Amino acid sequence: MQMAGKVCIVTGSNSGIGKETSLELAQMGATLVIVVRNQDKGQKALDEIVSKTGNHSVNLMICDMSSMASVRKFAVEFKKKYHRLDVLINNAGAEFVKRQVTSEGFEQTLAVNYLAPFLLTYELLDLLKASAPSRIINVSSGLAKNGMVDFNNLQNENNYKGMKAYSNAKLMLMMFTYELSKKLQGTGVTINVLMPGFVATNLGKNSGSLSSAVMFALVRPMQISAKKGAETSVYLASSDEVKDITGKCFSKKRETETCSASYNEEVQVRLWNETIQLLGLR
Ligand SMILES: NC(=O)c1ccc[n+]([C@@H]2O[C@H](COP(=O)([O-])OP(=O)(O)OC[C@H]3O[C@@H](n4cnc5c(N)ncnc54)[C@H](OP(=O)(O)O)[C@@H]3O)[C@@H](O)[C@H]2O)c1
Repeated sequence: MQMAGKVCIVTGSNSGIGKETSLELAQMGATLVIVVRNQDKGQKALDEIVSKTGNHSVNLMICDMSSMASVRKFAVEFKKKYHRLDVLINNAGAEFVKRQVTSEGFEQTLAVNYLAPFLLTYELLDLLKASAPSRIINVSSGLAKNGMVDFNNLQNENNYKGMKAYSNAKLMLMMFTYELSKKLQGTGVTINVLMPGFVATNLGKNSGSLSSAVMFALVRPMQISAKKGAETSVYLASSDEVKDITGKCFSKKRETETCSASYNEEVQVRLWNETIQLLGLR
């Protein structure tokens, strides 16, 4: 796909996979909105992307994905500034060693990794439909296979474990992708999910645990670079090969099967409905 003139959003774009994805899309000439929670970190990333690519159609917007109010505010502000959206990449993600509850009453891992991308996509759907053909790309994880959807414990109240909560949220993101792809049939909006691989980024470093940070440092030699980790995101955002593909998972730029739990349509529907209720949507 010709990216010049295409408006793209990448969340979590000040570091790791999101920054590399943004660099590539800017290099291809896209009009890019990098979405971050921290102004200073975002400005640094913006300066780097503009100076490396020479693309001045890159803008910075602020959104804290742990706050649904912030997600809603961002969507409103984005729609005031931009009148089309060709590619939405829900990339921001985080793992938290200790259970924390946001001021809105959501467990943080669920909020950042699942509720925020769900809500952001929902709030931008009209614009994506009006801009069709358009694409939604969700960054999940291979760890989704260890996840489960427990409707009695969606907020990870019982026996919280950071990695487990993260795996659950990434599975939910996958199931959201599959469910929404059915609802979007015939609209010209595609939605796919991806697993970036084991990538050397800041993930885990900020989780609040020394052992987690040490563990990540030890496994670093086994990890691929953030640039390599961004390849599938860039491919799904820009390649003509996938322009009509929707409701699939990709790894290393290829379609791949995901765990059997992710394909349970009954759970997909129930998860959709419960999420709509949790977020107070219609
Ligand atoms: N690295 C891997 O091996 C791996 C494997 C599978 C999946 N993934 C997924 O890949 C995506 C990118 O992660 P990464 O590996 O590139 O890690 P990263 O370098 O830590 O980047 C994560 C990005 O998400 C942002 N973020 C975190 N919490 C946020 C919040 N509350 N509001 C807004 N932005 C927030 C971070 O911002 P700050 O800098 O401000 O924290 C950062 O820009 C994530 O969804 C992650 O789960 C990564």
